[in-house]
Amino acid sequence: MQKKDKKILITGHLGFIGFHLAKRLIHEGHTIMGVDSLNNYYSQKLKKDRGKVLDGINGNYISKIEDISNKKIIKTLKQFKPDIIVNLAAQAGVRHSLDHPEDYVSNNISSFLNIIKYAKDYGVEKIVYASTSSVYGGNTDFPFSENDRVDNPLQFYAVTKRTNELMANAYNDLYKISFIGLRFFTVYGPWGRPDMSIHKFTNLIINNKPIDVFNYGKHSRDFTYIDDVVEGISLVSLKKNKYLSNSYSEIYNIGGDHPITLNNLIKEIEKNIGKKAKRNLMPLQMGDVKKTVSNIKKIKKHYGFSPKTSINEGIKSFIDWYKSYY
Ligand SMILES: NC(=O)c1ccc[n+]([C@@H]2O[C@H](COP(=O)([O-])OP(=O)(O)OC[C@H]3O[C@@H](n4cnc5c(N)ncnc54)[C@H](O)[C@@H]3O)[C@@H](O)[C@H]2O)c1
Repeated sequence: MQKKDKKILITGHLGFIGFHLAKRLIHEGHTIMGVDSLNNYYSQKLKKDRGKVLDGINGNYISKIEDISNKKIIKTLKQFKPDIIVNLAAQAGVRHSLDHPEDYVSNNISSFLNIIKYAKDYGVEKIVYASTSSVYGGNTDFPFSENDRVDNPLQFYAVTKRTNELMANAYNDLYKISFIGLRFFTVYGPWGRPDMSIHKFTNLIINNKPIDVFNYGKHSRDFTYIDDVVEGISLVSLKKNKYLSNSYSEIYNIGGDHPITLNNLIKEIEKNIGKKAKRNLMPLQMGDVKKTVSNIKKIKKHYGFSPKTSINEGIKSFIDWYKSYY
């Protein structure tokens, strides 16, 4: 069903999601070029170690360390001529955007513009790009659906990701480049980001340190396991879709379909580590969304996507990886 010989450019391939996607696609026999600036938002060692895993796979793979916010990137990448681009490079993280909004302008907006211009110059079929559930901001109608209004962002991170969606619409209109934006809902799993709650909590509990539990643990998140996210990206990148015409700019939610409260998440981590957490109960933090729940009917209907990993299985494999890696 899926064509096996695509040339795919993955930006942010040394990041958490990009690494897993590249691993799968190299294994499947696609020709992959990864571009990552290897920025120091979190451990560069973790990114380099992901890179070593990719280097060790027998396949067609090239890795470039470049900053895609620099417009020279359009020329640097000109030899590759991909069929598809998966743009995952970005400044991620909701809280970091409170103090460092400029990082989001260059890494999320200028970078995406360069990637679009590159796609236009070299006739790329389709750009798949990362958006986020954060665009639903303060919405209180659950679950969140793609047609909901998204003009109530709670921080600048969400503003830049919503901007990407609008840029995609405009460039589709102008030049008929096809776009698929994916609104990911809190992705977790092995090789995950150290700035995210599951990783932080695991580290602190193992080291007998207290954890700050914001909103008294009443937050709820639709956690999505990394393999399910990679399956979703792979489907929208490679599978034909009878619901879309020749040129489109579409958005899909990718969620785990099973929201869990922060308190229950901590219990699950405690169970897997075999140790109780010391909880520092705290009020809601500025910019935080209280609850996310995804409606994934659209991607189910168009691509047959359905998440397979329960939170229990997912947390177990994360903790197993954590123990072996650290
Ligand atoms: N992980 C999640 O829960 C989640 C949820 C919603 C959306 N997203 C989005 O998915 C994408 C991937 O997220 P992730 O969790 O893998 O993050 P990540 O930080 O692990 O990966 C992003 C990678 O992009 C690279 N990068 C950043 N700016 C760059 C630039 N200017 N040029 C080249 N490379 C650059 C970084 O070095 C990093 O390796 C991001 O766009 C993020 O906003 C992630």
